[in-house]
Amino acid sequence: MSVFIRSVRRYGEGDPVDVLVSDGQITDIGAGLAIPDDADVIDAADQILLPGFVDLHTHLREPGREYAEDIETGSAAAALGGFTAVFAMANTNPVADSPVVTDHVWHRGQQVGLVDVHPVGAVTMGLDGKQLTEMGLMAAGVGQVRMFSDDGLCVHDPLVMRRALEYATGLGVLIAQHAEEPRLTVGAVAHEGPNAARLGLAGWPRAAEESIVARDALLARDAGARVHICHASTAGTVEILKWAKAQGISITAEVTPHHLLLDDTRLASYDGRNRVNPPLRETSDAEALRRALAQGVIDCVATDHAPHAEHEKVCEFANARPGMLGLQTALSVVVETMVRPGLLTWRDVARVMSENPARIVGLPDQGRPLEIGEPANLTVVDPDATWTVEGSALASRSDNTPFESMTFPATVTATLLRGKITARDGKCPA
Ligand code: DOR
Ligand code: ZN
Repeated sequence: MSVFIRSVRRYGEGDPVDVLVSDGQITDIGAGLAIPDDADVIDAADQILLPGFVDLHTHLREPGREYAEDIETGSAAAALGGFTAVFAMANTNPVADSPVVTDHVWHRGQQVGLVDVHPVGAVTMGLDGKQLTEMGLMAAGVGQVRMFSDDGLCVHDPLVMRRALEYATGLGVLIAQHAEEPRLTVGAVAHEGPNAARLGLAGWPRAAEESIVARDALLARDAGARVHICHASTAGTVEILKWAKAQGISITAEVTPHHLLLDDTRLASYDGRNRVNPPLRETSDAEALRRALAQGVIDCVATDHAPHAEHEKVCEFANARPGMLGLQTALSVVVETMVRPGLLTWRDVARVMSENPARIVGLPDQGRPLEIGEPANLTVVDPDATWTVEGSALASRSDNTPFESMTFPATVTATLLRGKITARDGKCPA
């Protein structure tokens, strides 16, 4: 069985070509190729071929909160969003702090078969911020954990973070930090600024994020370690990243689509769907994040896909759980905020949504060039289509999108994982 992608432009560049996929690989590329008898033909005229997207930051809620999402529904959302690999955060119940949980997540993802679900291991036992996990055991397990994070919570004790970085360096794995100094965010539900003050919402200052980013850059420098910053949200974080990179510190960072597009003026409705950690900031922060992504100061886009059930979101703003869906809207928001204004080309989209995340975490078979002999982890995009977001129509078990009723450019028309079609025209194959 092969797949024949007809008349597609690689990275949206050059003349259209046909791309033949067999046995999980790209086996031929050229104009006017013969269509093999057994081929499934994807007619991709006027469409763009990209390497499958890689998301370093998702919450799939399994085990423990399957009423909000599970690996099956989250995998469908990922495939429909053009992803071929996602990293599932460790703040599950039980926490992914041992191979029992991380191996389950990997196994279940492979069983579902729509996207490679890579488990993220916790840095500390039960996310308690105190006792390091056995990262080595999780790395050596079937799930081959290569990224560790207490995301949802910050590894705030500097000595614990230092030890984690040292330990991770020895193992060749990545520590991803949710940068939030907890002493500065007690009770906080919104970005600290004029909007939160006017609305009577307790504020989350930029310094809570920036102080940890700066500290961790210095800890990484001294340990000769790598550190990755989750969901960068402020202009100050961008400045610190720029400084740290200029010093030669091994620091990388991601930005979410919602921080690129939205700001805290949306909070005026007190709609719990706008509550997220870190919070939506000010327009000037969103602009700085877009520039940083365009310039490579921020390395990649990650969704922080965070499903929550209706009873957890449709309530008083301060009681709403933080988090937003992201997998099916990520590409469109990146096109809206970055491609349309000319900040990124489609070639760059491949870099920030596939190649860079694959490189940061060390996935050998993702984010590869669109060439003969390469693994067929692919996304086909219609750049001219538009669509209107409807939470209840998304594949996630939850509906908590902040983009409800917004109309966006670009749709994913097909996703291929190792040559198998995992999404096509808005549906996953049965
Ligand atoms: O908004 C968020 N939601 N931020 C986090 O760090 C955790 C996440 C979740 O698990 O819901
Ligand atoms: Zn987080």
